[in-house]
Amino acid sequence: MTDRSRIGSSVERALDVLAGGGLVGLPTETVYGLAADASNGDAVRRVFRAKGRPADHPLIVHVAHAEQLSDWASSVPPAAAVLADTCWPGPLTLLVPRATHVLDVVTGGRSTVGVRVPAHPLATELLHRFGGGLAAPSANQFGKVSPTTAQHVLDDLGNLVDYVLDGGACPVGVESTIVDCTVQPAQILRPGAIAAEQIDLLLRGDVAAASGPSRAAGMMASHYAPSARVVLVDSAATAERVAASTPGSWVLDRTDDLVSYARTLYADLRDADARGVAVVVAVMPPAAGIGHAIRDRLTKAAG
Ligand code: TXA
Ligand code: MG
Repeated sequence: MTDRSRIGSSVERALDVLAGGGLVGLPTETVYGLAADASNGDAVRRVFRAKGRPADHPLIVHVAHAEQLSDWASSVPPAAAVLADTCWPGPLTLLVPRATHVLDVVTGGRSTVGVRVPAHPLATELLHRFGGGLAAPSANQFGKVSPTTAQHVLDDLGNLVDYVLDGGACPVGVESTIVDCTVQPAQILRPGAIAAEQIDLLLRGDVAAASGPSRAAGMMASHYAPSARVVLVDSAATAERVAASTPGSWVLDRTDDLVSYARTLYADLRDADARGVAVVVAVMPPAAGIGHAIRDRLTKAAG
C-alpha cells in the first residue's frame, strides 16, 4: 500500500522535513531528486541508505541561483562561468573544485563538487526559501530507472522518503547533462537535454568527450535498468521483425519526436514492467541533440 499522504504540494511541509534532517522528493525539469540538506551529514547519509547507493557515488548540490555556484566552489573555471551564465536554470550539472566546507559525504571525498540550478517552479521556490544547497541524487533505488512522477518516487522508496513535493510529470525526462569543468578541456561526462553540440558552441570547441579519471566518477557503473530485458535495434522495421519472433515483447519507438521520447522514456519502461513485458525492443534514435542522451540511457538499460 502506498501512502498518498506523503505526496503533496506544500513547500512549507517540505521545508519542515528538510529542517528536521529528513528527505524530500524534489520535482525538477529532468527527473525527481531525493533531497537532503547538503550541510547536514546525517541527512545526506540517509539519502545513501534509502537508495542503497554506494558511498563513492557523489551527489549533486542543487541551488536556487547561478550566483550561489561560488558558495560551493573554491574557484569557478571559465568554462563553468560561461555554461552557468547561459544554461542555468536548466538541465545541466557543472563539476567545479569544491569549497572547503563541502562535506565529504556529498562529494564521495573527491576534490570536486557537482552543482546545478534546476528549472522547475516548485524546486525554485523550495530552494529559494531554503536558502542553502540540497544534495539530491535521482529518487530511485540504486540501479533502477529514475522517477519522473511523484508516484514513481513513492513506488520506489515508500516510507524511506518523508515527503514528496508533487510537481507533476518531469518535462525533460532524462537526467541533466554533466560537464566536468575541472579539467582542460572540459569533458561531457553524461549526455542530457543540454546537447553536446550546444556546449561545443558555447565553449568554442574547447570541450571533449569523457575520458580518464573523471570518467571513472560513478556514472560508469550505474545502470538505468527495468526488470524487462531491453534489446536495441536501429529501425522500426527491424523492431517489428524482432518483436514478431520474441514472445512477451513490446516495441518502444518514439523516434518521430525525440523530445517526447526522452520525456516518457522512464515511464514507458516502468509501464512495461508493470504490464509484465519480458522484452522491450527499443528503436535507437539518431546520435544528435537529445538523441545522445536517449541512446546513452537505452544502452545502459540494455547493459
Ligand atoms: O538531472 C539530474 O542530474 C538529477 C536531478 C535530481 O537533478 N540528478 C541526478 O543525480 O541524476 P544522480 O546522483 O542520479 O546522478 C549524478 C551523477 C552520478 O553518477 C554521480 O556519480 C555523478 O553524477 N557525480 C556527482 N558529483 C560528482 C563529482 N563531484 N564528480 C564526479 N561525478 C559526480
Ligand atoms: Mg541516478
